[in-house]
Amino acid sequence: MSDKTTKQLAGQRAFITGGASGIGAEMARRFTREGATVVVADVNDTLGKEIAVEVGGEYVHLDVTDSDAWDKLIPTFESFDIVCLNAGVATHQNVIGNLSTYPLERLDNDAYQRIMSINVDGVVFGARAVIPGMVAKKSGHILVTASLAGIIQIAPDPVYGLTKHGMVGFVKSLGPALEQHGVCISALCPGFLDTPLVSELAREYAKLFSMGVMDVSVAGDLAMRALTERIAGSQWVVMAGQPISQYIQAQPFV
Ligand SMILES: NC(=O)c1ccc[n+]([C@@H]2O[C@H](COP(=O)([O-])OP(=O)(O)OC[C@H]3O[C@@H](n4cnc5c(N)ncnc54)[C@H](O)[C@@H]3O)[C@@H](O)[C@H]2O)c1
Repeated sequence: MSDKTTKQLAGQRAFITGGASGIGAEMARRFTREGATVVVADVNDTLGKEIAVEVGGEYVHLDVTDSDAWDKLIPTFESFDIVCLNAGVATHQNVIGNLSTYPLERLDNDAYQRIMSINVDGVVFGARAVIPGMVAKKSGHILVTASLAGIIQIAPDPVYGLTKHGMVGFVKSLGPALEQHGVCISALCPGFLDTPLVSELAREYAKLFSMGVMDVSVAGDLAMRALTERIAGSQWVVMAGQPISQYIQAQPFV
């Protein structure tokens, strides 16, 4: 007899970078409600520990830009069923200036290296660290939090757009190879969600395009949809007032 109350992630173990805040914290809450046990990884120890206590999970300090830290940490755990490579930042809260100014000329090297190392290196190092365990078990799902900015333009923060387009390309390209080993990787590409990442200026920008800012709970729905569909290299999109959908690009060759 099937039990309709069975939780979708019963018995599964999830690891979430950037789990102390916003989308990562929401995934920690949602996955826990769905029956998973969660490891929250972040550099914000205070908030990260709070979330871990709230969900009855574990907290680990992990700077995703530190490849040695990844390589030391991951072997201390059994392979995870779900790994969310989610930690990410905007280029700089103030680099945008205002919407009529071109920001790139004011981008200094430190700000550039910071976003590239968190949004790009952090995902590559994480995937590299967790894939061997998943391949050995022939199971697991890596969810990369890209963004709608990985599919369309984000004029006020082109370097953010660069990193998120990079993540979509990474996921698309890794998908088929991992699928052969029973492992799935997919990308979450939400529009604006109400988290501390979204500055007042970004909220103004969203209004210009009639894009609402969604409740962060939508991120949990998006992650669950990607996990349920389990399509190698897929991108999952959601915008305010619209249903979650798989983004399917037109084929360039016939
Ligand atoms: N909020 C949105 O509108 C939105 C939309 C699409 C995609 N995203 C993406 O979602 C992800 C999460 O963003 P959010 O909105 O929840 O932001 P947030 O600022 O609420 O959370 C980001 C978390 O990442 C952590 N973090 C930052 N640098 C880190 C590092 N070096 N190592 C480990 N953790 C680090 C922070 O401490 C924080 O807890 C990001 O990749 C972001 O680009 C956000």
